[in-house]
Amino acid sequence: MDTLTTPGPNNLDAYWMPFTANRDFKANAEFISRAEGLYYFTSGGHRLLDAIAGLWCVNVGHGHPRIVEAIQKQAARLDFASSFGLGHPLVFEYANRLTSIAPEGMNRVFFTNSGSEAADTALKIALAYHHARGEGQRQRIVGRQRGYHGVGFGGLSAAGMGPHKKQFGMLLPGTVHLPHTHDPAKNAFSRGQPPHGAGLADALEQMIATYDASTIAAVIVEPVAGSTGILVPPVGYLERLRELCTRHGILLIFDEVVTGFGRLGHAFAADRFSVKPDLLMVAKGMTNGAVPMGGVIASDRIYDAITSKAAPGTVELSHGYTYSGHPLAAAAGLAALDVYVSEGIFDRAAGLEPHWEQCAHSLKGLPGVADIRNLGLLAGIELGENAAVGKTLAKKVYEFCFERGVLIRPVANTIVLSPPLTIGKDEVETIYATIAAALRAN
Ligand SMILES: Cc1ncc(COP(=O)(O)O)c(C=O)c1O
Repeated sequence: MDTLTTPGPNNLDAYWMPFTANRDFKANAEFISRAEGLYYFTSGGHRLLDAIAGLWCVNVGHGHPRIVEAIQKQAARLDFASSFGLGHPLVFEYANRLTSIAPEGMNRVFFTNSGSEAADTALKIALAYHHARGEGQRQRIVGRQRGYHGVGFGGLSAAGMGPHKKQFGMLLPGTVHLPHTHDPAKNAFSRGQPPHGAGLADALEQMIATYDASTIAAVIVEPVAGSTGILVPPVGYLERLRELCTRHGILLIFDEVVTGFGRLGHAFAADRFSVKPDLLMVAKGMTNGAVPMGGVIASDRIYDAITSKAAPGTVELSHGYTYSGHPLAAAAGLAALDVYVSEGIFDRAAGLEPHWEQCAHSLKGLPGVADIRNLGLLAGIELGENAAVGKTLAKKVYEFCFERGVLIRPVANTIVLSPPLTIGKDEVETIYATIAAALRAN
């Protein structure tokens, strides 16, 4: 039993938990009470190797001393300052530093507090850009099946996950969806980018034929779809999407909430794939998950188009959050960026990728394994001969691993893995050995 665990609260009724089977959890609650480095410690006495980096966010492990110290110092110096018509120095410094690792020509950052807000912000900036250029009729948003962009009305509308939408009515009018890129018949067990499917991007041409390019504002995609099971883009797919968007004056938005900050062995997926979006969404690893923060990194072209349109002395973009650029978040973001750069975290992740890939694909042939997908330090293990069987199996594997000290994440019929980028080879082997044991036991 971990001696530092705290006792659970007696009454669990008041807290309405997000994306959780509240009644199940509360009937048998076990709390995360502490974290250190690669591990969580629970009220039930478990020490869990965190194979999901919290929730795709704790890229340099839990409680990194430089990040902790930066937050503590900032809390004592300046707890809050409005960014509406006012400003504090740290957030300007952070924006500068952040753009220094962003793709060339993307030198403007709009801060939000989450990935969901980053999605809504990116979509609004896209609309405002077209509006500023006299093309306000470009209002259609193109998302993709099996995309996830958080839970705001904009991001949810662009997302392609039916179960997330069914309780919430019509959402944004005029959103349409590209087909997803998951094609196990052709691409199962691909290592890295799958070979087949670049042509799926051509569905955008059909949309253009149906709606006309002059009505389409933006295409929003995750370079690698995370939450729907690690769907790696087929070779040439993102390039094709970029080419079509450029040709038709449509903005390309990359949702890099998961893929940003080293997850693919580069600062951003845009670097890994050498495909530059017009707007790039970030969150999660931005502050190593320590303080909520998100943002949209915009090309100069977009910023200039919107700001130059507004009369001098007027607000150029009527958008923002009370906590945009919050001092504690800016401090955490700066410290996280320092750690990423000074500790060579992105290269470290790149160096570990071959071992990660090898271990992931060692599960091939084990009972119930239908597909394995990987890129960077991401992996998806799809289970079961059909979705229902796979979902049940994924839950059992999760429970088995939890009992044996490894925290994985089941999403429907797939186990998704995204460890801290500071993980070592031994811990990688532990993760896959534990999953293998779970599969053999079922
Ligand atoms: C790709 C992607 N976009 C957006 C979001 C939403 O981020 P948040 O939960 O911070 O609102 C997530 C969250 O997992 C995500 O994976």
